[in-house]
Amino acid sequence: MIKLEHVTKIYPNQTEPAVDDLSLEVPDGEICVLVGPSGCGKTTTMKMVNRLIEPTSGKIYVEGQDVMQMDPIQLRRSIGYVIQEIGLFPHMTIAQNISTVPKLLGWDNARIARRVDELLELMGMEPHEYRDRYPRELSGGQRQRIGVARAMGVDPPVMLMDEPFGAIDPITRERLQNEFLRLQQKIHKTIIFVTHDINEAIKMGNKIAILNVGGVLEQYGPPGEILSHPANPFVEGFVGADRALKWLNLVRVEEVMDEHPPLVFDTQTVREVGEFMHEQSLDYAYVIGADRSLKGYVNARDLEGQQGWVDAFLTPAAVSIQLGTSLRDALSELIASDYREACVVDEEHRVRGLIQLDTIQEALSARKEGEG
Ligand SMILES: Nc1ncnc2c1ncn2[C@@H]1O[C@H](COP(=O)(O)OP(=O)(O)OP(=O)(O)O)[C@@H](O)[C@H]1O
Ligand SMILES: [Mg+2]
Repeated sequence: MIKLEHVTKIYPNQTEPAVDDLSLEVPDGEICVLVGPSGCGKTTTMKMVNRLIEPTSGKIYVEGQDVMQMDPIQLRRSIGYVIQEIGLFPHMTIAQNISTVPKLLGWDNARIARRVDELLELMGMEPHEYRDRYPRELSGGQRQRIGVARAMGVDPPVMLMDEPFGAIDPITRERLQNEFLRLQQKIHKTIIFVTHDINEAIKMGNKIAILNVGGVLEQYGPPGEILSHPANPFVEGFVGADRALKWLNLVRVEEVMDEHPPLVFDTQTVREVGEFMHEQSLDYAYVIGADRSLKGYVNARDLEGQQGWVDAFLTPAAVSIQLGTSLRDALSELIASDYREACVVDEEHRVRGLIQLDTIQEALSARKEGEG
């Protein structure tokens, strides 16, 4: 855990604080994103955690220990740090860059070489191809990956990442974000992550701290809460007018879907199905196979006066939505399909629920009601 208690930093010869009475707790294995406009004290906050800067007042604990009581050199080696602008050493090879901290800690050469290769592989870069290159021989995205690999050198439980994916084209950036989130599922580091991009913050953060100029914390909470309940006009402005759509990105269909859609089996007779639909006052029902896989739907009207097996009367479903889809994507699919609802299916195309335009609308209104 990383914990800040009433931390203030006033730089020498300054009257205004760069960080003002900041209290934060980052639980083990979570990513806390510091986000805010340029100069709001993000880098300063980060550097106080590993004591590159000393706070004017307040306390900082890493893994339960007061950092001011720790040896600063040891502290720094035990925390992975991806600095703003990456800052690889240009005259060192990639392998040498990654092995700086392991070397300082006196690891033997064989162990260091193994670790370098392991980290390169983790970053999706062929070790034999990249380990002996120099930073200038890499693309921007690859340099960013090496910055992250270097910070992970000795497998520290805590990492500080200062705009690790800044200054990079949007496509590469998105790829790096996804790679890192997948990695984090395995490595469970406790991370402070800095960005000035609210979209990156929403995507990467378990919690987001929104800072304002003067180092004032405006709000701290999970992305969904920040989007649904911005604490004040500053946060509201910062998250943007499209925060409802951003919020829809965070919610998965399974969180709001109806788990009991009207279902009938393709092996039932028209008569059975007709009676069932009449009893339940259904205008339509979805038709599934014995394994619950979606075949299509039937209208009550189409069955009137008919007999035989129901699967002769079904219309193939024009749209189905995969489990795990965000409400925003589900909304796009529904609008594109011209239907007001669709079955939610798993990877085997088995029906797991039903999502309706109305459900999405209701979820949005419920979110807004909480605001008042
Ligand atoms: N060594 C210093 N001496 C005096 N003031 C400083 C010093 N370092 C930073 N500051 C000031 O402290 C404030 C916070 O700076 P900081 O670098 O933490 O901002 P930031 O949020 O990381 O900004 P950016 O998004 O541009 O990286 C700024 O007003 C900056 O000018
Ligand atoms: Mg900064």
